[in-house]
Amino acid sequence: MTASHDFTAKPEVTGFFDPATNTISYVVSDPETKACAVIDPVMDIDYAAGRITHGSSDKMIAFIKDHGLKLEWVIETHVHADHLSGAPYIQDKLGGKIGIGAKITEVQETFGKVFNEGTEFQRDGSQFDALFEDGDTYSVGNIPAFTMHTPGHTPACMVHVIGDAAFAGDTLFMPDGGSARCDFPGGSAEQLYDSIQRVLALPDEVRLFICHDYGPGGRQIAWETTIGEQKASNIHVGAGKTKEEFVKFRTERDAQLSMPKLIIPSLQVNMRAGEVPTDKDGNPVLKVPVNGL
Ligand SMILES: [Fe+2]
Repeated sequence: MTASHDFTAKPEVTGFFDPATNTISYVVSDPETKACAVIDPVMDIDYAAGRITHGSSDKMIAFIKDHGLKLEWVIETHVHADHLSGAPYIQDKLGGKIGIGAKITEVQETFGKVFNEGTEFQRDGSQFDALFEDGDTYSVGNIPAFTMHTPGHTPACMVHVIGDAAFAGDTLFMPDGGSARCDFPGGSAEQLYDSIQRVLALPDEVRLFICHDYGPGGRQIAWETTIGEQKASNIHVGAGKTKEEFVKFRTERDAQLSMPKLIIPSLQVNMRAGEVPTDKDGNPVLKVPVNGL
């Protein structure tokens, strides 16, 4: 954590829940300058029909316009496997820079092979405008922000801390939801435990915004908690659970999980910063590698 970070700066945070993928995207804004960032926007897909639409991103764009905000950043906490990114669509309409963790290159290397991409698919992260390393700083208007590299779910995962608001990506879920799975290529339960410990070392009052919620036990969908609440009661890592306990539980649990419904289209699009790949004639097209994952 950067020692000089101002945790008293309070951005306004608005969550947008996508019921199709249980993803929460955010608009984070500086009330003083009206600058804003978008975190983890969604592009909609009817995979059975091969149809892509933009209703989820349009809602965020309308919100940004209605509030007179100026978009500076579109942040991906990681290469998502359960939804397609709306980043380029939003950037096209509102500008801003698309940023992701620098370890995206590892993810591109892995899935470049899985999808047998040709040499035209760059594995250097150049599809993104900014590649963040651990501890990098930036700002949203006058609100300072920094990044934490939090591998475990994927190698390129990052938590972004903007003023007093931290965006968990797929590290922690709500306290009753626990933590993210670690069985994708490049994932590691040991690493996720260590990453989560770093996140939990943030000040207790820090607001923590979650990337997914499934309403366990039928409770209402929720996405805001605090570091203090997570430390006290997260069912996977709270109340002093040891690394050994976590790794055992996480590994056994992951072995029973099925693949996310949209993993095949999501990876192909998201490793390209949200651009849909094209065939040799330039038509947008998605592949299904048989027994490739
Ligand atoms: Fe994820």
